[in-house]
Amino acid sequence: MLETPENIQKLVDLLANNSNEEYNAVLNDFDFSTIDFKPYQSWSSKKYTRNCLYKDLNFELILLCWEHGQETPIHGHDGEDCWVYLLEGEMKEVFFNMDDNDNLIADDSQTVETNQVTFMDDSQGFHKLKNGHDGRSMSLHLYAKPIENCESFDEKSQQFVKRSLNFDTNSDKY
Ligand SMILES: [Fe+2]
Repeated sequence: MLETPENIQKLVDLLANNSNEEYNAVLNDFDFSTIDFKPYQSWSSKKYTRNCLYKDLNFELILLCWEHGQETPIHGHDGEDCWVYLLEGEMKEVFFNMDDNDNLIADDSQTVETNQVTFMDDSQGFHKLKNGHDGRSMSLHLYAKPIENCESFDEKSQQFVKRSLNFDTNSDKY
């Protein structure tokens, strides 16, 4: 069995030894410059990529690599908690909720800057993320617990569909 690289293991240990309530502080305090993310990156002109760094029963750490303009569909989080730490670039986050007539409406948005942590869960409704930066962006996503499927808005049918989440690369050696 290969070992998780030491610097990622340090973050994994911190997360394993803290509760979800501490995760925002753990991510804010962690020195991400100690991690060389190059070996874990992958890039595609078709779609942002999801690269698994670590996954166990309690949480998963995924590196997302975004080319200019790439974005997620509008989606929920299957009852789980989601933190995003923006490592590089700039993201646009748009929040959606159902209005009284069950129409999906964008009700808030924010620009996420490098080194910023954001949090999302189903109590806040749905969101989408877009690389709003001229160049590439790179974000680290922490899901507790891991998310296998999520409600994802299908633009064609204008309905939410269940989407299974896959990894483009997987460096998790456990
Ligand atoms: Fe999300």
